[in-house]
Amino acid sequence: MEKDYLPVPLRNIQVNSYPDFDLYLKQADNFVLYRKASYRFSQEHLDNLIDSRVDLLYLERRDLKRFENYCKKIHAESAEDEEARPITHPVEVAHYHDIMENYFAVNGSLLLSGLELEFPVFCRRQNRTRLFPEFEQNPEGPWHLDENVSHCNKEVMIKMEDLGKYQALLQKLFEGGGGGAPENGKRVRQKAIILKELSKIMIQEMLADPRSGEKIKNLRNMVNTTVDFIMENESSFYTLMRIHAFDFYTYVHSLNVCTLCVGLGSAIGLFRSPDLELLALGGSLHDIGKSQLDPKLINKPEELNESEYEVVKTHVNRGVELLKDNPDLPDEVLSIVSQHHERLSGNGYPNGLKGDEISLYGQISSIVDVYDALTTDRPYRKALSPFDALKIIAKTEDDFEQTLMKKFILMLGSQIVST
Ligand SMILES: [Fe+2]
Ligand SMILES: [Fe+2]
Repeated sequence: MEKDYLPVPLRNIQVNSYPDFDLYLKQADNFVLYRKASYRFSQEHLDNLIDSRVDLLYLERRDLKRFENYCKKIHAESAEDEEARPITHPVEVAHYHDIMENYFAVNGSLLLSGLELEFPVFCRRQNRTRLFPEFEQNPEGPWHLDENVSHCNKEVMIKMEDLGKYQALLQKLFEGGGGGAPENGKRVRQKAIILKELSKIMIQEMLADPRSGEKIKNLRNMVNTTVDFIMENESSFYTLMRIHAFDFYTYVHSLNVCTLCVGLGSAIGLFRSPDLELLALGGSLHDIGKSQLDPKLINKPEELNESEYEVVKTHVNRGVELLKDNPDLPDEVLSIVSQHHERLSGNGYPNGLKGDEISLYGQISSIVDVYDALTTDRPYRKALSPFDALKIIAKTEDDFEQTLMKKFILMLGSQIVST
């Protein structure tokens, strides 16, 4: 008897779960076995499928009950993680600030089995950081990885003081060294992650020392490498955008704004040099003024009240103040710093600019900035899906330039399909 197959959206299969049913791919009119039942479905599997633009898998109809039970189980396990839990108790608020100020979010997928680390790694969950389970026996090191850290499926962090050691490891991995380096086919993804990690470190260093001309130069070189990478091929941009952090960190947000600005700039046909380079640098620096504000305010785990919001708004002028005398920064870069909260309607800040008083660079960064903020988790608000975020932005049509919006939606189309 011929088998009967049912489609399963890829998003229903959870990373690091063990589906107890066979999964198939549809190729032309044939169903090809993709994963046997009870094998782990890893992040790598998900990434490979997304890379191949697969958003549906198939199962045999006889496995429908198993699939329903699998979904129930996954849902029960993740229900706890699904909810935004505002952090209000002073002890919890203190823990939250401790994490935000003393730890740095890293991409665990680079920390592969076989690596000997010179620093400990932590998992972050429910407002606490815990030493990575493998290290609990030897909290003082050596920190040898038996299993890939990414399997911990929670946010992976290192101590801020270990950033230099982490940077050295990234450079080693970039040159192809280090234990557990993946084979060639996966080098593009690995390279994207390393680039993103190195850029995050540089942005964090800029935020810590925002007047340093040398750090701006380093950052500029780094973002140019990122632009090169994005322009290398179409999928590089999506690869970069899918590498996601859980919570809202200024250094991650800045890098996302940089990447999205380059993506949108290239979608509207801007030139690689100097346009995209300036967009990338401006995107990386756009919130630099936040470095001048109390980190307790910037990283407040609750929604800001009105007077706090007024203080946060000053980050724009503070950023301009920090950068305006730097001879290496052209006006285009400064216009991103000064205009990314302006709106075409005149309802933005700090100057209530209207229409074409806002530069093209300012307009691009304003769309991208809101989008990234909406699609990132906060303790008091879960991230919106790309689709829902775009719906919200599209509603405020008087605020954003419509041709740019359309290009932005088209550009993210493939990402939306795969979430
Ligand atoms: Fe901002
Ligand atoms: Fe921002």
